[in-house]
Amino acid sequence: MTSTFVTVGVVGLGTMGAGIAECFARAGISVIGVEAGPEALARGRGHLEDSTGRALAKGRLTEAARAEILGRVTLTTSLEDLADADLVIEAVPEVMDFKRAVFTDLDRICKPSAVLATNTSSLSITAIAATTTRPGRVIGMHFFNPAPVMKLIEVIHTMVTDEGLAEEVADLARRLGKTPVTVGDRAGFVVNRLLLPYLNHAAVLLESGLAGRDDIDTAMRLGAGLPMGPFALLDLIGLDTSYEVLSVLFQESRDRRHAPAPILRERISAGLLGRKAGGGFYGPGEHADTSGTPGTSGTPGTSDPSADGPSPKRVAVLGEGGDAFAARLADEGITITPVEEAEAVLALSSVPVIELAPRLPHPERLVGVHLVGEGVAEVASTVLTDPRVARAVQGLVRAAGRVPVPCRDRAEFVVDALLYPYLNDAVRMYDSGYATCEDIDVAMRLGCGYRQGPFETIDALGLETVRDGLRALYAEYREPFLAPAPLLEQLVAAGVRSFRDRP
Ligand code: 3HC
Repeated sequence: MTSTFVTVGVVGLGTMGAGIAECFARAGISVIGVEAGPEALARGRGHLEDSTGRALAKGRLTEAARAEILGRVTLTTSLEDLADADLVIEAVPEVMDFKRAVFTDLDRICKPSAVLATNTSSLSITAIAATTTRPGRVIGMHFFNPAPVMKLIEVIHTMVTDEGLAEEVADLARRLGKTPVTVGDRAGFVVNRLLLPYLNHAAVLLESGLAGRDDIDTAMRLGAGLPMGPFALLDLIGLDTSYEVLSVLFQESRDRRHAPAPILRERISAGLLGRKAGGGFYGPGEHADTSGTPGTSGTPGTSDPSADGPSPKRVAVLGEGGDAFAARLADEGITITPVEEAEAVLALSSVPVIELAPRLPHPERLVGVHLVGEGVAEVASTVLTDPRVARAVQGLVRAAGRVPVPCRDRAEFVVDALLYPYLNDAVRMYDSGYATCEDIDVAMRLGCGYRQGPFETIDALGLETVRDGLRALYAEYREPFLAPAPLLEQLVAAGVRSFRDRP
């Protein structure tokens, strides 16, 4: 059946459209790329040349193979050139009126058998299909940025999609070397429904002063093992696109955590749209997040080593795991003392440590330390912590081989505060019957480059640990979305240890 897709059109050659065109051309399929005018067309050509040029420079493509790929793409400013295309994918900006206008034109121009697909990130495909005379031939084909690299395509069918079409399109995705995950038409589908609320939450926490931009990115990259921190990723996706997706989610859910964080609107208004505009949360050339070193934002609480204070010589370590960490510090020449004699008191915890303060002779020397994975230590200052002590503890954890992430003393600090609600959302999504655990895991791994999907992460952390973390967050913030999903509570109560073992 997939041999029916011989010629493919792509409408809109921005970052995503050009990437999609490249995917088809790489798979040996002829592509007609359409843009609104000559300038936009030249930019689209530039995206294609840059992307394949990078592969050439890295020795991943030969000059001849690159020429073949580019030769398969015909560029035009006329939609009429799509009259004979077997499949057209729309990749214009995430605005319903733009999409509707394109589909109305495509419906008029394209042959009746042609499939009309949209790369929308979140808009209703059912509503887009309704603008055509062939709603059964309209489908979602959602790629991920950068399209030539990310291995997932979400295939989205509606209530009226022709029988068999989703499987035909899924076969085509496989022909491109991608893995399809097929789902129904809900705002955000699988990936954006889980990803965007997490990114928005990071923006809200940044605004609240929990931690700095670089520190949150570092924490999520090195602590949670994600390929990019949330602000580097917002810049890659585009703040405007993220804003539009969140707005659609909010319209459907009326859940205020889907309401775009004001910091997004401010930056968009200032023209800071992300990488494509030369700057978003990071400025041009400032994307240190992906290179392994923290950036130089100058934001408060940066984990830059120059912000560290001199290491305290006498330290007390409290809490679970304290002995092992104390031994590590002792190896670095630090004297471990009782609380009364210490200069700094480190409380190993991920719940607010301020509750310990009244029992200490010097509460200003108390700092919360949360060891995350093998490489990160969150260093939490309470409302009483002396900033010099916090900076000294940063130096101390760095000497112990960990990257310090300075933050405020709040429930679950940074990594878990962002991770657990995302995991909770995944459980709710599965429980709603929208997608299987396996499909959700595949979608997040291949769509976002995560090492594990959310259910694999929950299993690795332990269902009870995640449930307890959510309970702690809920106890502090009282936000409904932080309450553990009923299914998670039930599985823990039933003693089920893994999502793989669920009945
Ligand atoms: N175009 C083409 N190829 C690119 C590219 C681009 N824009 N960016 C990177 N690449 C290629 C590189 O050439 C390299 O290929 P190679 O291995 O064959 O040499 C490969 O990708 C890895 O690139 P780098 O080594 O330069 O960089 P990293 O290892 O840091 O990887 C990344 C970059 C693939 C972007 C990685 O950081 C990642 O996976 N990030 C997460 C991206 C993500 O989450 N995307 C989904 C966003 S949500 C979305 O798009 C949905 C929308 O609706 C909002």
